[in-house]
Amino acid sequence: MELSADNREKNLKRIKNTVLVMSGKGGVGKSTVAVNLARALNASGKKTGIMDVDIHGPSVAKMLNLEGEGLSQTPTGYLAPVKVCDNFYAASIAFLLENESAPVIWRGPMKSNFINQMFDSFAWPELDYLVIDCPPGTGDEHMTVIQALGKVTGAVIVTTPQHLACLDVKKALNFLKQMSVDVIGIIENMAYFKCPDCGKKVEIFKTGGLAELVEEFKMSILGSLPIESAVGESGDTGESLFEKAPSSAAAKTFMDIAGKISSGVPGVRGAKPANNA
Ligand SMILES: Nc1ncnc2c1ncn2[C@@H]1O[C@H](COP(=O)(O)OP(=O)(O)O)[C@@H](O)[C@H]1O
Ligand SMILES: [Mg+2]
Repeated sequence: MELSADNREKNLKRIKNTVLVMSGKGGVGKSTVAVNLARALNASGKKTGIMDVDIHGPSVAKMLNLEGEGLSQTPTGYLAPVKVCDNFYAASIAFLLENESAPVIWRGPMKSNFINQMFDSFAWPELDYLVIDCPPGTGDEHMTVIQALGKVTGAVIVTTPQHLACLDVKKALNFLKQMSVDVIGIIENMAYFKCPDCGKKVEIFKTGGLAELVEEFKMSILGSLPIESAVGESGDTGESLFEKAPSSAAAKTFMDIAGKISSGVPGVRGAKPANNA
């Protein structure tokens, strides 16, 4: 493979905005948010990419129905991110694994090396947004991707309403502060469930943990997503939530969040912070 030392710089010039999707905790819906936010940005006309830096638990390929896809080379010898649909591209370690059950048994330096390769050895097209799906916590993967990017547009934090999830989010927020990454806002996932029979809204995890967090860290709530079967199903099948259930509350909330983010993310090109107005 021909590699030019300045390929990362060329890639970063082609990518206008980079959005980290983070949480302190696992299983709160980071990958669900990353995939649907990327789909929503793409559906609203933005050139979008998604990069999966969850090396041990890559979900993006499955959630986009791209399992079994391999990586191809561009005519100039770089790796090509996999095309999801027009103006939407994805990169993940899953495209290099033999099958979906194959574990990645790598220590930190190898994980960091692979994340750097996703900038150095890949040829990304011109993108308005690169959404980055992070693993839980604040480890090697997060530090590597932030350092590789140099300047991150901002982070979208995902939490569920429980105190335990909110506690871990605090660690993520303090980590981002130390790494000088702006927070675009927080998404409350699994905020409620609406009974399909009687329409009653039930706040299954309600604890007030989020209100405390928002007050302490002065963040915007970008949106509150319900627990919805269409969300879980689209994650399992890889079908687009926006094609399968466009009138679902979750699909509408994701479109709304994408609009808030694209109308003003903090950090670059003089854009204003996203807010709830
Ligand atoms: N709002 C939601 N409604 C229904 N299922 C959801 C919702 N958010 C996430 N899930 C499901 O919960 C599981 C964990 O979500 P995932 O996005 O993989 O979390 P994480 O990336 O934080 O580990 C997945 O099976 C996903 O489909
Ligand atoms: Mg995940």
